[in-house]
Amino acid sequence: FEHTFIAIKPDGVQRGLIAEIISRFERKGFKLVGIKILTPSKEFAQKHYHDLTERPFFNGLCEFLSSGPVIAMVWEGQGVISYGRKLIGATDPQKSEPGTIRGDLAVVVGRNIIHGSDGPETAKNEINLWFKPEELVNYTGNSEKWIYEAN
Ligand code: GTP
Ligand code: MG
Repeated sequence: FEHTFIAIKPDGVQRGLIAEIISRFERKGFKLVGIKILTPSKEFAQKHYHDLTERPFFNGLCEFLSSGPVIAMVWEGQGVISYGRKLIGATDPQKSEPGTIRGDLAVVVGRNIIHGSDGPETAKNEINLWFKPEELVNYTGNSEKWIYEAN
């Protein structure tokens, strides 16, 4: 199965939304295979968001991501990269559908509480940036046979 990188940003952590966010991925049927809490440096945030270097909000975004503890996670599951983005909702919470994490829990684009990889290539790069291979676990979830069809 594929893997995606998901981070709860400092606003999500400070607002007490860690369990709420993890719960939505967990209840869907995705499997948590890596998790840690850390305050990234600004240089690290710049690496994470390197694609956005030219954007006017880049500096503020990197300042913000490095302003406090972040929950960094790797989730596993069939279609988890693209469906993870659906669970998260549109970048701007004003445009995210109700029922999505940002739609239900955030109001402005600069404080949208969560990050998710936007494709297979970025997922791979972001997992490598945030995690060492030995920080990821490989296990069979107890309910997997009820989530997936036997093959
Ligand atoms: P991430 O999952 O965090 O990568 O969000 P995304 O993929 O939905 O959006 P994108 O990668 O384009 O932008 C990264 C982050 O930059 C967003 O999550 C926002 O927090 C922030 N951002 C994007 N556009 C704007 C903007 O127009 N203004 C501000 N202030 N922040 C923005
Ligand atoms: Mg993005």
